[in-house]
Amino acid sequence: MIATDDAVEIEAERLFGSLMHVECDPRGRTWNLDTCREIAPLTLEINRLKKEQGAVILAHSYVEPEIIYGVADFRGDSYFLSMKAKEARAKVIVFAGVVFMAETAKILSPAAKVVVPDRQSGCSLADSLNGDDLRKLKSLYPDATVVCYINSTADVKAESDVCVTSGNVYHIVEHLPAKRILFVPDRLMGQNLRDELKRRGVQKEIITSDGTCMVHDEFGPGDIALARERYPGLKVVAHPECTPEVAAASDFVGSTGAMMKYVKTTGAPYYLMLTECGLVGRLQVESPEKAFIGGCRLCPYMKLNSLEKIRDALKSPRPDQIITIPEEIRLKAARCIERMFELAPTD
Ligand code: 13P
Ligand code: SF4
Repeated sequence: MIATDDAVEIEAERLFGSLMHVECDPRGRTWNLDTCREIAPLTLEINRLKKEQGAVILAHSYVEPEIIYGVADFRGDSYFLSMKAKEARAKVIVFAGVVFMAETAKILSPAAKVVVPDRQSGCSLADSLNGDDLRKLKSLYPDATVVCYINSTADVKAESDVCVTSGNVYHIVEHLPAKRILFVPDRLMGQNLRDELKRRGVQKEIITSDGTCMVHDEFGPGDIALARERYPGLKVVAHPECTPEVAAASDFVGSTGAMMKYVKTTGAPYYLMLTECGLVGRLQVESPEKAFIGGCRLCPYMKLNSLEKIRDALKSPRPDQIITIPEEIRLKAARCIERMFELAPTD
């Protein structure tokens, strides 16, 4: 079905209402009514296909703004989206994010067909460790409680006792009875966890594997010092995948959801966001009065998502776009994620 000119015009205006605020577009586009008119037929088609198929689209805040504001039903951080995946009664879940997020959705909603726009959308953290690697590590530390960051594969989750996200890692590990924790796969988050537990007066030994996020490990404390000199009153907001030096020099450290909340509820003249640029785009739309400084860092995996690929994954998904997980692994991984829901703070 071809959309009428009127329908396209209404859709373009709806898109423009949000996208007009995006200044740091990952492809350098300027959003005006004409660029919105160009994508409007596609967002209309996707939203129609969604209804016909009983599908929902979950989008991480790092994907491109036309996905977030054009077709997503839910947008947010890993924790929020895993909750939505668990609650979804949808026949089809399209996950615009990266593969480990879609795997998490399949683990929590096994009856749904879960599809990804691009199977190559990996993650430098999730891809740093597999189930065999973790089994070997576990044999070296048999008394440790194994905590996996959600940025991990289904087989790593299946080998772990409890999963955490950037928003609940400190709280959950603090309250675990074990003194020795094997934390995988993020070495830098593990170091930040060690520092935060020390600050809270909690004694635990944190052993980590060696993965890092290729986006967040690039920020350095030098960037912060320079920016503070140039922009008095600046607030620096970082993700816990950054180095401990960056975390220590920042005003706030938290998940992408918590970073957004911090910016929305503080009144600084400028913000430096030490995370993927998509989050700045979201804040420009949702808090257009705030000023952001600093350049853009992009996650190449998140940027593999596109409206065209979402449309194709909905219309007739290729086998590589459909997430499948052996039931034995899914059941074990589900236990590890459910444990997170039990232990996570409720606010
Ligand atoms: P959040 O859960 O904080 O959104 O983090 C996901 C991620 O991949 C950060 O790089
Ligand atoms: Fe993985 Fe880093 Fe990309 Fe997040 S930003 S998906 S942690 S590579």
